[in-house]
Amino acid sequence: MQAFLKGSTQGVKPQKDKATASSSGENKRQKPVPWVEKYRPKCVDEVAFQEEVVAVLKKSLEGADLPNLLFYGPPGTGKTSTILAAARELYGPELYRQRVLELNASDERGIQVIREKVKNFAQLTVAGTRTDGKSCPPFKIIILDEADSMTGAAQAALRRTMEKESRTTRFCLICNYVSRIIEPLTSRCSKFRFKPLTNEVQQERLLEICAKENLKYSKEGIDALVKVSEGDLRKAITLLQSTARFGAEKEITESLVIEIAGVVPPKVIENLLQTCYKGNFEKLEVAVKNLVDEGYAATQILSQFHDVIIEEKLGDKQKSVITEKMAVVDKCLVDGADEYLQLLNLCSVIMQQATQSA
Ligand SMILES: Nc1ncnc2c1ncn2[C@@H]1O[C@H](COP(=O)(O)OP(=O)(O)O)[C@@H](O)[C@H]1O
Ligand SMILES: [Mg+2]
Repeated sequence: MQAFLKGSTQGVKPQKDKATASSSGENKRQKPVPWVEKYRPKCVDEVAFQEEVVAVLKKSLEGADLPNLLFYGPPGTGKTSTILAAARELYGPELYRQRVLELNASDERGIQVIREKVKNFAQLTVAGTRTDGKSCPPFKIIILDEADSMTGAAQAALRRTMEKESRTTRFCLICNYVSRIIEPLTSRCSKFRFKPLTNEVQQERLLEICAKENLKYSKEGIDALVKVSEGDLRKAITLLQSTARFGAEKEITESLVIEIAGVVPPKVIENLLQTCYKGNFEKLEVAVKNLVDEGYAATQILSQFHDVIIEEKLGDKQKSVITEKMAVVDKCLVDGADEYLQLLNLCSVIMQQATQSA
């Protein structure tokens, strides 16, 4: 852990140096861009695995027309990248800034902003040609990223704007959970679901990046990256960068990835489970306390526990009781409950279930 902290501070320092160096014109290629940005698809063709969306978008791009869009799906599957790439293809780099308004969850998006900023931007009319003479669509695009964190009132305010400005503006809403978008908005948009990326697709992208960054890697290392990030390519790429930063010469190995990702060693999980099976509460209490003191994140333990429990030799009823408890504990942890108490809570239930005669 300490080594990791050291590694990351080392990574920060040269960044500053590089920033000053690049402003004086040198070292341009090494500008410290996060790899997720550096390797973001530049055009819609580069978006992997989302064939349906890409096909429809390309049709629309040919006709220089676009419906209002709603992208939804799990994180790190290319939603933001896709619309940014499409907008860039439509407008070219110059007009892009004038024509595209991008708001995400870090911007204030209460009803006031929708009323003023979005509405004002939507009302501007635009020409159908680029500065270089090429034609471009006579509308602007407003991208509302992470739209599921918008308040209901703001969403309702958007609905009117969307309708009134349909001649000059297209909206693209992006969210993880489509059920959090109010119905009147979803019905005004073409909906696209982004599928979770398969392991092969993720591996391919990661290998591409490894090749471009001249990284050494082992196959197990890449597999570990994919496994740990659970279908979220952004997470995988970020983790790859952290791992690569760890040492210039070192290669991406499984153990390094696991250490940096904060995965709890399988042995530790196994031991805890065995302690539960033994049915001695005092011992269990000590084991859980030690685990929390080690600094492992409770959510991480929970998620690994979940994978293990499903494979264990327990009855269906026992498993269902345990996993239901897991759901409750997960919610409590999200709400900020005490990690030690929650883990102990879960472990006691496992102990109960495992030791009672079935
Ligand atoms: N389908 C994809 N094809 C290629 N790269 C992808 C894809 N999905 C995600 N990525 C990579 O992951 C990063 C994050 O993707 P992003 O579009 O921001 O995900 P989100 O769906 O959460 O908006 C991008 O920089 C890109 O490198
Ligand atoms: Mg996004």
